[in-house]
Amino acid sequence: MRKNRHGSEKSEFSILALDDDPIMTATIQSYFQGAGYQVDVENDPVAAIERVRTCHYDILLLDFLMTPLCGDQVVEQIRTFNHDLFIILLTGHKSMAPPIRTIRALDIQGYYEKNDRFDQLELLVESCVKSIRQMRLIRSYQQRLADMASIMPEIYALQEPNQIGSHILAAVQSLWACTDGLLAIWDGGRGAPHLRFSSGDAMAGLDAETPELLCTQVEQQFGRERVLCSPVANSLGESIGVLAIVMAGKPDFYQEQLFRIFVRQCAASMENTLLLRRVKDSYVEVIKALRLMVDAKDIYTRGHSDRVSYYAGHLAAALGKDPETCRQVRLAGLFHDVGKMAIPDNILLSPDKLTDEEFEVIRKHPECGSSILSAISSFRTIAPIVRSHHERIDGKGYPDGLSGTDIPEASRIISIADTFDAMTSARRYRPSMTFDQALEKLVEVKDTQLDGKMVDVFLNVIRELPEEIRQMEPGEQLRFFAEEVF
Ligand SMILES: [Fe+2]
Repeated sequence: MRKNRHGSEKSEFSILALDDDPIMTATIQSYFQGAGYQVDVENDPVAAIERVRTCHYDILLLDFLMTPLCGDQVVEQIRTFNHDLFIILLTGHKSMAPPIRTIRALDIQGYYEKNDRFDQLELLVESCVKSIRQMRLIRSYQQRLADMASIMPEIYALQEPNQIGSHILAAVQSLWACTDGLLAIWDGGRGAPHLRFSSGDAMAGLDAETPELLCTQVEQQFGRERVLCSPVANSLGESIGVLAIVMAGKPDFYQEQLFRIFVRQCAASMENTLLLRRVKDSYVEVIKALRLMVDAKDIYTRGHSDRVSYYAGHLAAALGKDPETCRQVRLAGLFHDVGKMAIPDNILLSPDKLTDEEFEVIRKHPECGSSILSAISSFRTIAPIVRSHHERIDGKGYPDGLSGTDIPEASRIISIADTFDAMTSARRYRPSMTFDQALEKLVEVKDTQLDGKMVDVFLNVIRELPEEIRQMEPGEQLRFFAEEVF
């Protein structure tokens, strides 16, 4: 019997021996069990087909001449439902083997001429084992690629770097079953990483000023054998981070290859997100500047947007809206009049009574504001709110003449805050009203101009404001109201 160099590994492979001669199957079983394989035997061809259907086997060794089915007929039936099984046909004499075209057609891996020695059969089985090993590796590689492919769209769809980092770390844990993971990202420059995610305590203590130094630290601490560690490079080839995982044992070639592919995908996703964040930040800066310019145009309306945002946010919260809706309302409040940038100064700042034509120009500002805000995806959701902030419940507002609940809920909220602040702020043509006077006016336009139920809630919102704020001048209130909403 050949010495078995991989005896323990062979127990992963199972053989079914089929022969109508029980002595032959017992001999094969004894020989190959001795070589380390799992071996079952069957003497009835029909029962053998059912066994292959219900149990997993890697290799079938079967006799050719049997009753009631010959070996080639057994294989023909098995091939209708199983194409993975490796099959070796045993023949009494080479001349009795089926023709080569039948062997090929049935995908039989080889045949063996029975004799007293099993060396040649063992060689054939070992050849099958090598192929099965390769097939398993390829399948596992395919499966992991498929798992990775199913995870990546989720990672690409995320927009916040923090979410992406957490998802990447969760993904490496499921794909590589690692004991520890670390993702560090530098958003330009040296120093401590700007984003850092780690799982397991072992990675938590590592710290370095550059991706290269961090890679070195990881390999020094855990040894190169058990570590998969790679710089995360942007599209210019510059290192912007590190992804490192520590595994229980030495990673194989395929795990390393998959890791490199995964790192490249993560790098692209992270780079897109950082880029998107920069674009978004700069757009927010532009919009902030626009808003300040709108306010700066007219000293009488200065701070108006901030106060509208503040009142509207509190009204949304008092109406029981969820935090994200409240945030949207506050943003929309900040930018509700941004479209006034497009209104010529001689109309916007005119001290005289406006003509009908001039008033028509002013009435364009909700649409203009909506167009400006639609230009960036993050603000697209507030664009319709801004568009409808001058609609009225009775349908006599503009630009679309919407009425009742056809007006977006957030627009109805902004409308109340806008009206209230306009009345409680001084204008060049009139002094400001007190809070109580303005609230009385709001009640008068319930269910004509404004949403009556919301006005009722707003009365409480204002009445519950601390007295000190109610007594402040609008400029002082602005400083109090200034809160970060981005
Ligand atoms: Fe407005």
